[in-house]
Amino acid sequence: MNRAASGILPAIAVDRRSPTPLHKQIYDGFRSAILRRELRPGQRIPSSRELAIELRVSRFPVLNAYAQLLAEGYFESSVGSGTFVSSALPEQRMSVALPRTSVNKPSGPRPVARGSRLYPDFENQPAIRGWGAFGVHQPALDQFPFQLWSSLVAHHSRNPHANAIHHINPLGTERFREAIADYLRAARGVKCEVDQIMIVSGSQQALDITARVLFDRGDPVWVEEPGYRLQRSVLTAAGCIPVPISVDNEGMNVAAGIRARRKARAAFVTPSHQYPLGVTMSASRRLQLLNWAQTVGAWIIEDDYDSEYRYESMPIASLHGLDVNQRVIYIGTFSKVLFPSLRLGYIVIPPDLVERFVAVRHVMDIFPPYLYQEVLSDFINEGHFTRHIRRMRQTYGEKRTALVESLKAEFGRELEIHGAEAGMHLAMTLQDGLRDTGIAARAGRERLWLWPLSPSYLGEKHRNGFILGFGSIPRDQISASVRHLRTIISSK
Ligand SMILES: Cc1ncc(COP(=O)(O)O)c(C=O)c1O
Repeated sequence: MNRAASGILPAIAVDRRSPTPLHKQIYDGFRSAILRRELRPGQRIPSSRELAIELRVSRFPVLNAYAQLLAEGYFESSVGSGTFVSSALPEQRMSVALPRTSVNKPSGPRPVARGSRLYPDFENQPAIRGWGAFGVHQPALDQFPFQLWSSLVAHHSRNPHANAIHHINPLGTERFREAIADYLRAARGVKCEVDQIMIVSGSQQALDITARVLFDRGDPVWVEEPGYRLQRSVLTAAGCIPVPISVDNEGMNVAAGIRARRKARAAFVTPSHQYPLGVTMSASRRLQLLNWAQTVGAWIIEDDYDSEYRYESMPIASLHGLDVNQRVIYIGTFSKVLFPSLRLGYIVIPPDLVERFVAVRHVMDIFPPYLYQEVLSDFINEGHFTRHIRRMRQTYGEKRTALVESLKAEFGRELEIHGAEAGMHLAMTLQDGLRDTGIAARAGRERLWLWPLSPSYLGEKHRNGFILGFGSIPRDQISASVRHLRTIISSK
């Protein structure tokens, strides 16, 4: 029930020429809107004064109708807070009047085109959706400086710039893009100028815009195998053909890609921390990939989604920094390093493509929302961002060590762990014969949220295992959660 919401003016019409008195028309209008469930229990009713003004009638017929609806139990009022659709309406009375007006079941031809070719969305299945132990893409929110954050939000809400409120550059605000360019040059070795940066609502929109700009239907595009499913969905939605290229302990196998489809249009890669296996792409593979792209005229899309957290060495510089031919489109996000519902990310676009990216962006949502760009500009410029990354690197580093130790203690030699050197997740593979999706579904019933590895493969050949997030799990619950995991896997 939403008692806080203001009274929405319902679509109630009155006809002055009708022989039915006005108060009866108003009464009938509300009553049938409630019975048709256009107005729901608990919903606030506008004041009699507001409704009288809206309907251009005096208050008397409105007061009269309201009194009748109150008396019959359709409305309820509480002193000082207003009038509401009654929350105690007898369900039976409602359902008696419902069927005639209910909407028909879908029938007849209902063509859907690209949507029907998207991968079934395993990530949205209830079995893996909870918050807590092993949830993937979940940061340690208890460490986020919300107090500071909320004071920046309040400041920028109170003092908006008229210009920014009215219209923003489709690339995003200059101040925010400058802060990001400074960060990327210094921390990620990205060679970029402010005018190449476009602010987007997370890497997902970045991938989508990029695909719309660069690809035509039927274009083959290399993707990592296993890889990030939502990246593949973007390609499928754009009508492209994702070509799975295996990942080994040096990252995407470029020679295998050349054998499979030399003249692909692009390669999507996560070189800093391959998703989901966590491999870092070797220097020689990076050079091979850049050479291939230059030779065949392909693009490289570098998704640098969680490079800030490396535990055993300094962060590895981006692939973009090695590129001398402007072949790399670099994508970054604040989803991992801050939190995903911010929906803020960025693209570094080769200068000759900026106009095209802007044109596509314009069609999608014209420009990005203003408030959090301002907030995050301050957060970065005042040094909070770097401090936060440093603190989180420490926190996640400790959690990761505890997780690896617990996994080794519980599973011993049968366990293979992948990609624990960086990021907020690692991958563990299961012994042959165990099915990860079945185990994940069972674990979900016990409120342990496991992301199976096998859906990350596009081809038939796949490994079973789990992608284990360790961002949100409290440090002191890690060993108990690993024991729980062990019990569930053993009880197959
Ligand atoms: C490989 C990869 N890229 C990007 C993202 C982030 O997406 P977004 O910035 O849209 O939240 C994720 C998951 O959070 C991911 O796993």
